[in-house]
Amino acid sequence: MILPPTKSWASDKMLEPRFRTVKVSALISLMVVVVVWSSSAPMVVESAVGVNWGTVSFHRLKPSTVVDLLQQNKIQKVKLFDAEPGALKALMGSGIQVMVGIPNEMLALLSSSTAASDLYVRQNVSAYMRKGGVDIRYIAVGNEPFLTSYSGQFQSLVMPALQNLQQSLARANLAGYIKLVVPCNADAYEASLPSQGVFRPELTQIMTQLVSFLNSNGSPFVVNIYPFLSLYGSSDFPQDYAFFEGTSHAVTDGANVYSNAFDGNFDTLVAALSKLGYGQMPIVIGEIGWPTDGAINANLTAAKVFNQGLINHVLSNKGTPLRPGVPPMDIYLFSLLDEGAKSTLPGNFERHWGIFSFDGQAKYPLNLGLGNRLLKNARNVEYLPSRWCVANPYKDLSNVANPMKLACSYADCTTLNYGGSCNGIGAKGNVSYAFNSYYQLQMQNAQSCDFDGLGIITSLDPSVGDCRFLVAVTDTTTSTSSSQRYTSWIIVWFLNLLGVWVFII
Ligand SMILES: *[C@@H]1O[C@H](CO)[C@@H](O)[C@H](O)[C@H]1NC(C)=O
Ligand SMILES: *[C@@H]1O[C@H](CO)[C@@H](O)[C@H](O)[C@H]1NC(C)=O
Ligand SMILES: *[C@@H]1O[C@H](CO)[C@@H](O)[C@H](O)[C@H]1NC(C)=O
Repeated sequence: MILPPTKSWASDKMLEPRFRTVKVSALISLMVVVVVWSSSAPMVVESAVGVNWGTVSFHRLKPSTVVDLLQQNKIQKVKLFDAEPGALKALMGSGIQVMVGIPNEMLALLSSSTAASDLYVRQNVSAYMRKGGVDIRYIAVGNEPFLTSYSGQFQSLVMPALQNLQQSLARANLAGYIKLVVPCNADAYEASLPSQGVFRPELTQIMTQLVSFLNSNGSPFVVNIYPFLSLYGSSDFPQDYAFFEGTSHAVTDGANVYSNAFDGNFDTLVAALSKLGYGQMPIVIGEIGWPTDGAINANLTAAKVFNQGLINHVLSNKGTPLRPGVPPMDIYLFSLLDEGAKSTLPGNFERHWGIFSFDGQAKYPLNLGLGNRLLKNARNVEYLPSRWCVANPYKDLSNVANPMKLACSYADCTTLNYGGSCNGIGAKGNVSYAFNSYYQLQMQNAQSCDFDGLGIITSLDPSVGDCRFLVAVTDTTTSTSSSQRYTSWIIVWFLNLLGVWVFII
């Protein structure tokens, strides 16, 4: 998720009588697709709940700790935003199914050269595909490349990149097992009512090519849906329509009645796909979730109610009015962990999407429907010592504005703002919070708590109420630079020459 869609609620109302034919044909074609799909692909048509594992964080857990967290919570599907070697190595032998993401910035190269796509597949895919390796099932080519705010810069690269990568997969004998997909933002389509859903006019041609490509390879359409952003971005969006508990603002679309934004959005996509002749294409939700901090509607209660409502809705197999009985194939919650180094351009909430905090602690009770009734916390998290940096109580803080600003320009202070969990901690609390964020970012380097003599280190936890003053975790593996990796490979090669078996961890 990058930027909030601008679709306004006000345009979501009109009437449309064509529902009946759509419904019947959707049903018939669904039966067809179930048969075709299960015979051509190694997956079953039954919703599974997976998670997005992003790593844009100052304080990263060890990848092995994250994989253990996934396993403790019986999570069988994970989506990565790039082919990060640390994460992929940790996933080896886990049996977890993986969607590997290719960042938009790589599309230019991959679309222009089959040598580049061959190398990508060799280095980032084939290398992991063996017994005891990583079970890569999907490659996400680009991330929301059709987002309006990109002004079309990635648009023309998507199809050529897909074609090159498909050939490279075929050459690597992986084309039957690994599916290429393109996670789309929900602003790729629009409508005043679900049944009128249609892709944005300037995307018609590329979407026609894309869905035809997906269809011929047995790939699903992947879409990211964010009712939170609709609520955040539009003051007249009815709050209860964002959730699954029933609404006083149901949307009537012919004979169909929509009581939640998710169903409405999903069926808008179904209608858009139908207009291109692929109304039965399987749909995967690549990202969906609710943040817990950094905005008024971003809080623990709302996130719990939304995510639990979503999971229950999807696992009930109720489907939507245009696809009754057929929920999305899979949903990937956004997100597994908070990512405190993400851009706050979309809003302060952007760093708080995790169902777990940055250090793998469950934020609220959630039943993922995977066997555990509640989330289980990460185990064996290695923290730095219990030390915090706070404003020195004996110093005059009248000149604190600049040091504080500096601290927050590097470290994460988003919870201090209006709607945040630390918004009410007072002026001095604000300073302490900022100082501590920076001190932990600097891995508790004593000098980083100086702030012209205004900071002081304490072993008393300054957290108040819901406002948590963090302590950094130690992650020794993610800082491995490519030159370090290179060195260790040379050592391995050398030891192998001597007949010594070595395992890189
Ligand atoms: C493999 O993936 C990583 C991370 O996405 C990327 O930086 C690297 O360039 C890729 N390798 C190739 C050969 O494309
Ligand atoms: C949390 O978010 C919900 C749903 O958007 C909102 O109604 C509620 O007022 C928020 N709670 C707090 C304490 O801000
Ligand atoms: C603390 O900082 C936040 C964010 O800058 C601000 O909104 C709030 O008013 C500050 N509190 C006090 C008491 O100054």
